Amino acid sequence: MTNKVNVGLIGAGRIGRVHAENLIYRIPEAKLLAVSDVFLEAAEKCAADFQIPTAVKDHRVILENKAIEAVIICSSTDTHAQFIIEAAAAGKHIFCEKPIALDLPKIDEALAAVEQNRVKLQIGFNRRFDPNFKHVHELVAAGKIGAPHLVRITSRDPAPPPVDYIKVSGGIFLDMTIHDFDMARYLIGSEVGEIYAAGAVLVDPAIGTAGDLDTAVITLRYTSGAIGTIDNSRRAVYGYDQRVEVFGSEGGIVVANNTPHKAVYSNTEGSHSALPLYFFLERYTEAYVAELKAFIEAIRGDTPPPVTGLDGRIPVVMGLAAWTSYRENRPVKLSEISA
Ligand SMILES: NC(=O)c1ccc[n+]([C@@H]2O[C@H](COP(=O)([O-])OP(=O)(O)OC[C@H]3O[C@@H](n4cnc5c(N)ncnc54)[C@H](O)[C@@H]3O)[C@@H](O)[C@H]2O)c1
Repeated sequence: MTNKVNVGLIGAGRIGRVHAENLIYRIPEAKLLAVSDVFLEAAEKCAADFQIPTAVKDHRVILENKAIEAVIICSSTDTHAQFIIEAAAAGKHIFCEKPIALDLPKIDEALAAVEQNRVKLQIGFNRRFDPNFKHVHELVAAGKIGAPHLVRITSRDPAPPPVDYIKVSGGIFLDMTIHDFDMARYLIGSEVGEIYAAGAVLVDPAIGTAGDLDTAVITLRYTSGAIGTIDNSRRAVYGYDQRVEVFGSEGGIVVANNTPHKAVYSNTEGSHSALPLYFFLERYTEAYVAELKAFIEAIRGDTPPPVTGLDGRIPVVMGLAAWTSYRENRPVKLSEISA
């Protein structure tokens, strides 16, 4: 084991600030030395809030800093692949937020640079580090439900993002469902071979005008023969709805929503319990810490990171298959999208 891992952060927006706070306060094995953001004020505010020594506009200052061993890429999606290529060339280990890119040639170029420069790459699929979903994965892997037959993932946001964000996000399947595609693989440890996607605009017509959907049901056919469904909405009025169920030949496992408390209040009108935790920052607080800890440990122990570049690529293939399926109204094999 080496000593502390010196880290630089690129992108100080919503998720960048979460990782900055975790690195500073909850991951003593890392030292956050610098933060960059094209919007310099964001970098400076992040540095001031979390006592990071250096704030810069240009990410290349971080890449040129010999003391920095690893970078955390949290800038906008359209910068990820290029920053991975540059960071790999600079010999830095890389944690990159999802998605790597919205098209496969760019992803493949980034993954080739990682391979060529022999650096580590971990993709930010935080839900794998949620204790509930991790437990499902472990129970299934241990054979506790026998052969998996059905997977059911419900994933609904409390409110849609701004339309300007939606326009550059790759749309619901590549921005939102991508986490569920990763869960679909992770929960039962099997690959999906075919996807059928139905979609609608029911929440906000402006989302449709921007070329996206806000409501979707995706059917998955696993290569093992198992079948799965994912249902998504951009607006659940009661909060962030994150539930899963796996069912197999020897049993099943259900994960309900996390709530701020478990008290149930009853009166003559009925019984009332707490709403789900509001959104991803509240629901996956622990998971964000655990994923970065795992990345830092992979560097310190020189072991492979737990979420690989390939794990980052496959959900993009699934997202592209879902778009093709929706547009052509037919089941689409993943092999049609990527050999
Ligand atoms: N894993 C998760 O749960 C999760 C959650 C939210 C966002 N994300 C992903 O993280 C990324 C950022 O999302 P966000 O919600 O924090 O967005 P955001 O818009 O709040 O933050 C992005 C930041 O990147 C900065 N930026 C843009 N170009 C840059 C460049 N060339 N160099 C440095 N900084 C640059 C912007 O100025 C902004 O401050 C997206 O790819 C998104 O998909 C992942």
